[in-house]
Amino acid sequence: MIKQFILYLFILSTKFYFAQTAITLPIIPLPNKCILQNGEFILSPKTTIYCNDKRLLNHINYFNDYLKKNNQFELIIIKDSSKINSIILECINDQNQINESYHLLISSNKITIKGDTAGVFYALQSLIQLINNQTSNIIKLPCLIINDEPAFKWRGMHLDVSRHFFPISFIKRYIDFLSLYKLNVFHWHLTDDQGWRIEIKKYPKLTQIGAFRKGTMFGKYSDSNYDTINYGGYYTQEEIKDVVAYAQKRQITILPEIEMPGHSQAAIASYPFLSCNGNPQEVAKGWGVFEDVFCTKDSTFQFLKDVLDEVIILFPGKYIHIGGDECPKTRWKKCIHCQSIIKKENLKDEHELQSYFIKRVEKYLNSKGRQIIGWDEILEGGLAPNAAVMSWRGEDGGIAAAKDNHPVVMSPGTHCYFDHYQASPSDEPLAIGGFTSLEKVYSYNPIPKELNEEQKKYIMGAQANVWTEYILNEKQVEYMSMPRMAALSEVLWTHKENKNETNFLIRLQKHFTLLDNLKVNYAKALFQINYKIRNDINKQKLFIELNANSSLGDIYYSLDGSDPNINSIKYNTPIELKGQVNIKTALYKNGQLKGKVASRQYQINKATNKTIVFKTPPSKYYNTGGYFTLINGESATVPRINDQWLGWSGQDIELVINLDKSQEISNLEIGFLKEELNWIYLPLEVTLYLSDDGINFSEIENLKSTQIKEDRVACFNFKKQKAMYAKIIAKNYGKILSGKPGAGENSWLFCDEIKIN
Ligand code: ACM
Ligand code: ZN
Repeated sequence: MIKQFILYLFILSTKFYFAQTAITLPIIPLPNKCILQNGEFILSPKTTIYCNDKRLLNHINYFNDYLKKNNQFELIIIKDSSKINSIILECINDQNQINESYHLLISSNKITIKGDTAGVFYALQSLIQLINNQTSNIIKLPCLIINDEPAFKWRGMHLDVSRHFFPISFIKRYIDFLSLYKLNVFHWHLTDDQGWRIEIKKYPKLTQIGAFRKGTMFGKYSDSNYDTINYGGYYTQEEIKDVVAYAQKRQITILPEIEMPGHSQAAIASYPFLSCNGNPQEVAKGWGVFEDVFCTKDSTFQFLKDVLDEVIILFPGKYIHIGGDECPKTRWKKCIHCQSIIKKENLKDEHELQSYFIKRVEKYLNSKGRQIIGWDEILEGGLAPNAAVMSWRGEDGGIAAAKDNHPVVMSPGTHCYFDHYQASPSDEPLAIGGFTSLEKVYSYNPIPKELNEEQKKYIMGAQANVWTEYILNEKQVEYMSMPRMAALSEVLWTHKENKNETNFLIRLQKHFTLLDNLKVNYAKALFQINYKIRNDINKQKLFIELNANSSLGDIYYSLDGSDPNINSIKYNTPIELKGQVNIKTALYKNGQLKGKVASRQYQINKATNKTIVFKTPPSKYYNTGGYFTLINGESATVPRINDQWLGWSGQDIELVINLDKSQEISNLEIGFLKEELNWIYLPLEVTLYLSDDGINFSEIENLKSTQIKEDRVACFNFKKQKAMYAKIIAKNYGKILSGKPGAGENSWLFCDEIKIN
C-alpha cells in the first residue's frame, strides 16, 4: 500500500515536473497542448526534410532561409518519408477548411509535423522558437508532443504608414514579426490626412501630391512645433503585389485601409473636388482630426469606386477596411450637395448621412464579392447590412455589433493601442499618451462578458494598432510593438484557461535571445517597477507599494538619493509615506540590474489623505483612481496615465475638501491638464473659497486660465488664515472651437493632485 502510494506520488510529481518544463519552453504564443518527453533530436546539416504536398515547399524554403541565416546550413529535401533523422511534413485536412491547427512530434530520430497548410507553417514557427539562441550547426531540440490550434481566427496587427512612412523592407520585417507569433492579419493603414501611400493609376496626383507634405509636427502636440522638411513616400502597385505575396507565404492576409469619409485631407489636397467646398488644401502637417472630409456627392463615389477597383485587384482578402472614424460633420452641415442628399434620402441628420455614405460603399464592394470592415463609428446612424466592426473606442461598439449579428474585431484603446506608453512616461520616450503595459495587453480577453454564447461567436478576434504620429522611425515601431505583440499573440492564440502571466514572462525572457539575434529594438519596460500609493485599512496612513513580477527579479530601493544595488534595502513590504520621500528603485536578478533605476518624489501636505466631496462625480471613463488620486501625495504625470487623473466632460468641477480640523493655511495648489489633441482643456477660471464650518464660504481668489502655472498648476497664495474646508470651482472651457480637434464637441476638464500648506 505504502509502496503504491509512493509510486503514485512519483508519477504525480513527474507529470507535474514535465508539465512545468514543457510550458516554460521558449514558445510564444504558448501551445495549447504540449507534453515534454525524455531525449532530444539533433538538427544538423545531416538532417533531411520531406513533404507530401508541393504546397509545403514554400514552408520548407522559409524554414531553410531561417536556418541559413541563423545557423549557416540548410536541409536537403528528400522524396522518402521513411528515413530517420528527417523532418516529415504532412499536409492533412481539407484545404478548403483551414483551421490552422497542427501536430508536432519531436522524437530522438525524427520530427513529424501534420496540419493544414497554415498549421504546418505554425509548427515550423514553433520549431524556430525552440531553436531560439542556438546558432551553431548542432541544434538540440527536446523530444515533445504538441497539439495546437488558435483560440481566435482574427489575430491582427496594424501599422499606420501615413503619419510616418516605412519602406517595403521594413514592412516585410514587420510581417516577419507577425508570422513569428502566428498572427494572421496585417492591417495596413494606407491613407490618412498626412499622406496617401498607395499608387492608384487612374488618379496619379494621389501620390504625386498626396504622398508628400511640406513639413511635420514634432515634439509635444501642445507645443505646436513644425519643421519645414518635405516628407513622404508611397508604395507602387508592383511593390504592394510583392508584399501581398510575401505575406501570403507567411499565412498572413493583408487588410488594406482606405480611409473615408474623414481622415481624407491628403486625397482632397490631390483632388480638391472631393471636398464639400472644393477649396485648395495642403496635405496635413500636424496631428488630429480635420474638418475637410469627402463630400457625399456622386463624383466622390465615382472616385472611390475607381480607387477601390484598383485596391481589390491588389488585395485578395475578403475584407476591405474603409475607415469611418472621426469624421467631423461641419462641412456637410453647410454643403448644398450634402444637404440635398439628406433631403432626398429622407435622412434625419449628418450621422445618418455618414451611414448612407458607408452603406453606399458597402453595396459597391459587396457587388465585387468583398466585405467592408470599419471603425466603430460606422454604427452611428445605422450599420451597413453586412459590415464588420473594429471596436476601438472601448468595447461598446463591438458589443453592440455582435448583439446585432455583425462580425467584430476588438481593438480597444485600453488594451490594444501600442502607440500608448508601456511604462511611466517619466521613464519613456515621448508617446501619444495613454497607458497600455505588457501586463495589460496580456490580461486582455476579447470576449466581453456582456455577450451570450450565440453573440460571442461574432467576435472574430482582436488586433493591436500602431499609430505613428509619435513613432518616427523603424526602431521606434519595434520598440512600441515588441514585446507587446508577443503578449497579444498569446491573448489570441492560447486558450484563456492555459494563459498565465508569470509563465509568459519566464518564456519571454528566454525568447529575448531570439529577438537579440534578429537585432530587434524591443522595449524592456516589463522590468520597470510599478509604484502605487495606498491607504492602510483605517485610512490613517499612506504606503508606497512597489510591484514587479517575481520572475523578473527582486526589488531594491534607497531613500537617501543613492542608486540602489543588491546591498541596498530589499523590498518586502510597503513603505510608509511620511513627510517628504525621495525613493529610488531597481530590479536585480542574479546580481544583474534589469531595466533602469527609477526614482519618485512624494510630499505629504495638509490635504493628503483627507476627504473630498464632489458636486458632480467625474466621468466613469476617467475615474479609475477614484478621488483618492487627488490627495495621495503623488502628482499625476504629464503625459497622462489615466488612473492618476479625474475627468469631466462638458462640466465644471466643484469640490470641497475637509481638513478634519481647523488649521492655519496660506497656500493651495491644484493640477490641471491641457491636451487639446484629446479634447482636454484648461479651465476658463478657478476660484478658491475657504470656510471653518463647511456652510459659509468666503471667496479667497480667482485665477484665469492664463494664470495657471506652466499650463499645469493653479497656485493660490493668500494671507495665513484658519480654515477647515476648502472649496474649489473650476469652470469648464465649453464647446471646442472650430479648427481644433473635436470642434463643436464638449471639452474635457481633468484635475489631479491638491496640495494645501
Ligand atoms: C482611431 O484610432 N482613430 C481608429
Ligand atoms: Zn458636401
